[in-house]
Amino acid sequence: MRRLPFFLLTLSVILYSSHPSSAQPTPPRLGHDPVSDIVKQMTLEEKVKVVVGKGFSVPGMRMLANDSTPDKLAAISGHTIPVSRFGIPSVGMADGPAGIHRFMMTAQDSAEGLFSTAWPVGTLLASSWDTALVKKVGVAFGEEIKSYGIDFILGPGANIHRNPLGGRNFEYYSEDPLVSGLTAAAIINGIQSQGVGATIKHFAANNQETDRNSVNEIISERALREIYLRNFEIAIIASHPWAVMSSYNLINGVYTSESPDLLTTVLRKDWGYKGFVMSDWFGGKDPVAQMKAGNDLLMPGNPDQVKTILEAVKSGKLPVADLDRNVEHILNVLVHTPTVNRYAYSNKPDLKAHAQISREAAAESMVLLKNGNQCLPISNGSATIALFGNHGYDLIAGGTGSGDVNKSYAVSLAEGLTNSGYRVDEGLARRYKDYLADYAAKHPKKPLIQEIMNPTPYAPEYVFDAGSIGPRADAADLAIVYIGRNAGEGNDRKIADDYELTGPEKDMIAAVSTAFHAKNKKVIAVLNIGGVIDVTGFRDEVDAILLAWQPGQEGGNAIADILSGKVNPSGRLATTFPVRYTDVPSAKNFPGKEFPEKATTSVVGRSVPAEVTYEEGIYVGYRYFNTFNVKPAYAFGYGLSYTDYKYGDLRLSSADFSGRLRATVTVTNTGRVAGKEVVQLYLSAPHHSMDKPAEELKAFGKTRLLQPGESQTLEFTLLPRDLASFSTGQSAWIAEAGEYTVKIGASSEDIRLSKTFRLAESVTAGKVNRALAPKAKVEELKPVAGR
Ligand code: BGC
Repeated sequence: MRRLPFFLLTLSVILYSSHPSSAQPTPPRLGHDPVSDIVKQMTLEEKVKVVVGKGFSVPGMRMLANDSTPDKLAAISGHTIPVSRFGIPSVGMADGPAGIHRFMMTAQDSAEGLFSTAWPVGTLLASSWDTALVKKVGVAFGEEIKSYGIDFILGPGANIHRNPLGGRNFEYYSEDPLVSGLTAAAIINGIQSQGVGATIKHFAANNQETDRNSVNEIISERALREIYLRNFEIAIIASHPWAVMSSYNLINGVYTSESPDLLTTVLRKDWGYKGFVMSDWFGGKDPVAQMKAGNDLLMPGNPDQVKTILEAVKSGKLPVADLDRNVEHILNVLVHTPTVNRYAYSNKPDLKAHAQISREAAAESMVLLKNGNQCLPISNGSATIALFGNHGYDLIAGGTGSGDVNKSYAVSLAEGLTNSGYRVDEGLARRYKDYLADYAAKHPKKPLIQEIMNPTPYAPEYVFDAGSIGPRADAADLAIVYIGRNAGEGNDRKIADDYELTGPEKDMIAAVSTAFHAKNKKVIAVLNIGGVIDVTGFRDEVDAILLAWQPGQEGGNAIADILSGKVNPSGRLATTFPVRYTDVPSAKNFPGKEFPEKATTSVVGRSVPAEVTYEEGIYVGYRYFNTFNVKPAYAFGYGLSYTDYKYGDLRLSSADFSGRLRATVTVTNTGRVAGKEVVQLYLSAPHHSMDKPAEELKAFGKTRLLQPGESQTLEFTLLPRDLASFSTGQSAWIAEAGEYTVKIGASSEDIRLSKTFRLAESVTAGKVNRALAPKAKVEELKPVAGR
């Protein structure tokens, strides 16, 4: 018999195996064949593998495992289960919003340099009011995620700053849904431009850590639509995140991960979302309800969930169509992941370049709150600075918990000042460093998970003996008092010794200010904090205040860039600083009421049912302060510059609104140094059938770097939705007829120009499905009629 040439033999084997007419067809493969074909051929067990994660494991310890294959990457937060018959690999998910978080770094990881860039935290990034800058961070972040072989980053966090004590506020952006939504969209667009997935979280109304797994948030439909969902709506529509993470809490009596209203009606039907939804880790209670609601993937996954879902489908409790839908949602996204596309990751991101971007983003976002007698920037480039405060020598780059980052270093302000050419009072520095080293030796870190959830507290503020500060004022040209704060997952902050300064901090500021002012020398406060603190207790004692938030690993350099004037501050507050904590409208409903008699214990520990009613309704942040005439310490949108700006020539494209309206305004740098100005467009709307905040932010923009004398015209467009409020009765966004005022401001209380236009007839700017109604009417705060 004539033998076939080898290549024909091979070809025939290939042809035979790809066109099998025999009983064993080749299963369709992810990435090659339609997802619907894969789902059609999957067994029930295979489908369940797709919708439940691989289990929870930390190096050396695998808990609740659903699958025995090794994790693709060690010490990241989660993996999906592979289904090899269809070419579906396991994909990896890592925290978190401010940089990649691994549970631990082995000695080998460190030796290989597998560190991550610590970016400025969300609250600081949002203070840039510069979506192009945030996107640039996102692009670099995405490159890093991909270089480390990770498919999804578990961020950004986009919840609203409802209350200053929220323990995870640092991970979130703002009290305002527009700033929050556009900042989230910018970072997501940047991250996803690199071909990896972002996961916007925690959907929704996860505004406190106290009882986070069991708290029922009672919120009106209007407050949900205008505040607590609006941020997500803006971000999701503008950036299509690959994944959404549902939150732990309940909204109006239903766990968010079990809520068809939230996950299907609002997210998919109203907003057209096409990605998939994953639960927060161990979130929700009933896997069948989660599957039905459209919580496509349960993370990190555990064997009980697998069993429950299998049984529910077999018994008819869970329609297989629901399971199929969830599987399709997940696979439609996984097909784009680097792992499915066999991306050969390098483990070598450009950490040097990313550090520069981190520094730039931090400096461009910091907010100068006070600058008495223009004492900043520090004109003497080689001044000797007396730096007081533990954290001046030990930067708080970011918050704790899953939002912590495996950075290789964090530049303290002491180092940043030295790098910039200043002299740091060495005697003082030595005292602090010795004190901090001694404390660290006496307080070793706890085991891994305990340390993540309940970090070892920082050293108490170093206390000086009386009389030892005076000589420092002789030796140095000026003083910096440095206040540090940290918080994170699992705990909210408290008022005493956290929102308020501690006794030793107050004493330090008082003693330093007295000693330095006696010598006619300035005192500058630097706030390295993750959430709002009381500033009224000390702001009159110091000459200047720089709000650095938690600035990422290059923090000390970025702060020095502002103090030296290398960068002119252009950050603006994305969250209000009140005069008193009790001025915040949510203060009387935070963190809510507990029902300890109904406590239960589960995989997440002891859960105490709790409930919090959002009585303040839509009056969150500046919406409250402006409408109810409560003066804040520093208003939303506020921030100083080293130069001045003049606003002029506000023009509206028409005096009557029909479909859209354009507003233009020209900003001129009238000072002596170059700078960037944030221009804010607020709208005051008529209030006939619905009450309205006095002003609401509808658009914002940042100028380019304007040289002295230079001008730039910014343009904003208003659409019907921008004029509208949510009418619960009509389940629609309604813009009421009447006179509207466009207010161009340098902050929410510093309106520079305004002009009115009319809307002749009321307009419906979008009808939505009825969803998420509270069980009983929420009695909400309302402004007095006739305002
Ligand atoms: C946090 C999430 C995080 C997840 C995975 C949860 O405890 O709430 O933000 O992404 O853990 O680490």
